[in-house]
Amino acid sequence: MLERHQIEAPDGRICEIAIGRGIANAAALVLPNAGRVGVVAQPTVEQLATKLAVEIGDSGTAADVLVLPDGDEAKNLLTVESVYEWLNRQGFTRHDMLVAVGGGALTDVAGFVAATYLRGIEVSYLPTTLLGAVDASIGGKTGVNVGGKNLAGAFRHPARVVVDLDIIDALPEGLLREGAAETVKAGFIADEEIIAEYERAGLGAEIDVVVPAAIRVKVETVQSDFTEQGRRAFLNYGHTLGHAVEIAAGISHGDAVAIGMVAAGAVSAAAVGFAHHERQQEIIGRIGLPVNVPGLERAEVECLMGRDKKRDREGLRMVLLEDFGRPLLRHVDEDLLEVGFAAIGVE
Ligand SMILES: NC(=O)c1ccc[n+]([C@@H]2O[C@H](COP(=O)([O-])OP(=O)(O)OC[C@H]3O[C@@H](n4cnc5c(N)ncnc54)[C@H](O)[C@@H]3O)[C@@H](O)[C@H]2O)c1
Ligand SMILES: [Zn+2]
Repeated sequence: MLERHQIEAPDGRICEIAIGRGIANAAALVLPNAGRVGVVAQPTVEQLATKLAVEIGDSGTAADVLVLPDGDEAKNLLTVESVYEWLNRQGFTRHDMLVAVGGGALTDVAGFVAATYLRGIEVSYLPTTLLGAVDASIGGKTGVNVGGKNLAGAFRHPARVVVDLDIIDALPEGLLREGAAETVKAGFIADEEIIAEYERAGLGAEIDVVVPAAIRVKVETVQSDFTEQGRRAFLNYGHTLGHAVEIAAGISHGDAVAIGMVAAGAVSAAAVGFAHHERQQEIIGRIGLPVNVPGLERAEVECLMGRDKKRDREGLRMVLLEDFGRPLLRHVDEDLLEVGFAAIGVE
């Protein structure tokens, strides 16, 4: 199976996405006219990055590897500067390109470098986490943390995204669960097949089914709404409360989004008659994701929500579901919010 998509960015640049097995190779990632290639990678996937660099070299294009510090903590301007300096030392020009090998933290940094170095160079992404494959690598958002999360960034679509399902299949359970939150979210807002597959098998869901389907949801959503005024907001399902509990409880993004979706499901049931709140909660639990977060101070969570980017001048706007596959944006008042808090054990 090889599935391909294209996103045409507002600046006219084309992002080509390929999904398949055993497709993480030089030909898929390197643009034919690239002068030289800088491969940036996370330490956990250094071997894969080195193998690729050798292959790129064998195909006649000079390629070096730079391993960056790991994780979201390293998604900062210091790391960005270290990449700039590395590119300077190699005499990088606009005809040269980056290949980013790693999870979302790594592709966000590489994308930010690509958006800014020499006012823009090409980059291809090889996402190596589930979250990276279905979410971070698609849609053109790049950025780093400067005090707050993702506060410095740029829109820049990579030239290519290569999603090798062999890599995703081999992930440890923790990373599969972390990414499953965003994958099943794509199902809840837009795809019955993803819902059914996670309902059937929990964390054992077929990667070949859920990953291409979740990518399709993100591609279609992004393609139809580059300005983020309309449909793209639906991708924030579960994120309004999710972001707040992520910070308040110090839990992972995936766990927080899972809890946020449970809350949003309860609010949806009360506000717009969503009939699948309990079923949604069961599916989330079946994946092994948390469905509540007891012990948090409600005042603290609300305060954190006030600082959330999704709170506009008229009050709190949340993505709700009228049904699976039928999201809508709605203003949520205090009483409705109460229902959401109660559902996740925040008093
Ligand atoms: N740009 C966007 O639109 C967007 C969307 C969602 C999330 N993000 C960002 O993505 C980041 C989260 O992504 P993530 O969950 O991939 O985190 P991550 O990149 O920090 O990776 C998580 C861990 O998995 C390791 N890892 C990577 N590939 C592996 C592999 N194949 N096998 C074993 N370990 C591996 C990494 O080294 C790291 O330790 C956050 O920084 C978030 O802000 C960006
Ligand atoms: Zn998210």
